[in-house]
Amino acid sequence: MQILPAEALAEKAFLTVDVRLNSTSTRSSQANVVVFRYLGRVYAYVNHCMHMHKPLNCQQDAIFDAERRWLRCSMHGFIFEPETGVCISPVCEGQALQAIKVIEQDGMIVFKEKYLQILTVNLPKPAVSGVSHD
Ligand code: FES
Repeated sequence: MQILPAEALAEKAFLTVDVRLNSTSTRSSQANVVVFRYLGRVYAYVNHCMHMHKPLNCQQDAIFDAERRWLRCSMHGFIFEPETGVCISPVCEGQALQAIKVIEQDGMIVFKEKYLQILTVNLPKPAVSGVSHD
């Protein structure tokens, strides 16, 4: 399922997508997915911090830290590896954001999840929206 033209997502910019996740074993559920470009590659994770079950951008309209090296939850500042979604902050160290398969194909950003239905695409946020660790 195509999200938008790949060129619309600049380095370290992000967008969010409301989706329905369907499964043969569980009831369908809705989720918000954060999609971003990091070092040229596109990644996507369910936008749900495992610490206190908040979206990464719940307090500030940003998903990166000030240096734009790490993903950062704006609620309490926990940080995550962009490439893996693994949390490296002590309380949740080793736990990971739920990855969503996404690729660039024929100039488009495309979800490759069989049981995912796109509901709404929220346009990309600029890369300048990083926040500090304070
Ligand atoms: S809810 Fe994300 S760091 Fe606390």
